[in-house]
Amino acid sequence: MPSEKIQLENNLVLRSATIDDAEEVAEFNSIVMAEPPEMTPEPEIGEWTLDLFDGVNRRVGPSDFTVIEDTKTGKIVSSIVYISQVWNIGSVDTPMGMPEIVGTHPDYRRRGLIRKQFDVMHYWGKQRGHFFNTVMGIPYYYKQFGYEYALDAWGGRATARTALGGVLPKKDAKPVLSARDAERTDVPFIVETELNSRQRLFVTTTRDAQNFESEMFDRREGNMVFYRTRILEQEGVPVAYYEYNVTTKRDMIRVNSLEISSSVNWLDATSSMLVDLKKLADELVSVDGGKCEKVEFEIGSGHPAFKLFDSQFGSEKKPYAWVIRVPDVAALVSHISPVIERRLSASDLRGWSGDLKLSFYRSGLKMNFDAGKLTAVENTGPIERHEAHAHYPDLSFTKALFGQKSFTQLREALDDCFAEKRADHVLQDILWGGKQASGVLPTN
Ligand SMILES: CC(C)(COP(=O)(O)OP(=O)(O)OC[C@H]1O[C@@H](n2cnc3c(N)ncnc32)[C@H](O)[C@@H]1OP(=O)(O)O)[C@@H](O)C(=O)NCCC(=O)NCCS
Repeated sequence: MPSEKIQLENNLVLRSATIDDAEEVAEFNSIVMAEPPEMTPEPEIGEWTLDLFDGVNRRVGPSDFTVIEDTKTGKIVSSIVYISQVWNIGSVDTPMGMPEIVGTHPDYRRRGLIRKQFDVMHYWGKQRGHFFNTVMGIPYYYKQFGYEYALDAWGGRATARTALGGVLPKKDAKPVLSARDAERTDVPFIVETELNSRQRLFVTTTRDAQNFESEMFDRREGNMVFYRTRILEQEGVPVAYYEYNVTTKRDMIRVNSLEISSSVNWLDATSSMLVDLKKLADELVSVDGGKCEKVEFEIGSGHPAFKLFDSQFGSEKKPYAWVIRVPDVAALVSHISPVIERRLSASDLRGWSGDLKLSFYRSGLKMNFDAGKLTAVENTGPIERHEAHAHYPDLSFTKALFGQKSFTQLREALDDCFAEKRADHVLQDILWGGKQASGVLPTN
């Protein structure tokens, strides 16, 4: 953060926050995020803000918040927090940053206050060597800051609490695995088991033991991103886990992950989770005034659990998407070159050598491959049409890079996305991997 304050129009000052701002920003965030028509405050966002100020997430502290203060009233009128993380792209750890809890007081909106703070966020990202930024946000808005929808998020299934039953053949039958709350001593098991998800998912989040431990045990219970973890055991040995959170405002449970170790199968883990979840959900409604009508499984549309049960998981929940900004495309492509080379070597074009020029119309990317190795990547200005091997309009290349859409799918959707030669078209689907499943639960 530039240590100096940035004087904006009139009485507005943009600065990084200090610990003394914690309560005010938390209060501000819980009110500014209220949604129409009810406009009920969101205390869960306030609690999340306080955890971030307190450094529960070790990568975030007070100075990662920007605030804009009206010096006339002494009040904070706009704020964002920058959450540094490491995501994993096809087995390559990739530092990135996420602007979050973005809000401006209604009286100060549409004056560019968020745009100005995003400039600061992007400056921090550059200083910290972040390869990309993502936001989980309101529709369209962040496209104005160079972001593009490029990675599916929160897809899965949604069901009613009452539909969870009927998993076991008899009423008094027991599930194969027993369930209990996770303890600190389970963290190494969870860290190791979570890594198995990389075998089926292209983009995931990198979490070490400290991340898991602080998320599981140090967050305030009312924090919007407080997840509870259940361990599934076979004869007293942990073999699977799942995470969920209870959203009282929306009367529902949200399951965020289900992962298994190699010593158990998906059927035993899934059926045991469903039995346990039904018990937990029923307990929630059994307390005075308790409600839990809905259960959402936001574990990715292609999760193996969904193949094994129909009615219990209910209907499809279409994914939303992360918007992604890649400030230096060449740097990210070069960073994930092991993934690209792996794809090429496993394809019909293994060992391919040549130049490859991608046109983004107003800019471009030039690559060189030598015997299947990516030897050079550089950002370029516009590439002449007859020189480009493939064309990606606007920011559509980001969708290919993060596996949200294959080149073939982009070609079908966008008239100005194309490759003249068949082999160049095929090469695009090889290098960028086509459409791939991803599952990101951010470390936020
Ligand atoms: C969305 C919100 C953060 C925008 O704050 P803001 O200070 O008005 O934003 P800015 O003025 O910096 O917006 C930048 C640009 O987007 C435009 N814009 C503002 N709100 C917009 C919206 N909801 N949709 C589309 N464009 C919008 C602005 O006019 C401005 O355009 P310009 O640069 O061409 O002049 C604010 O309306 C808000 O706090 N809403 C409630 C909380 C919320 O939804 N937060 C986002 C959670 S992801």
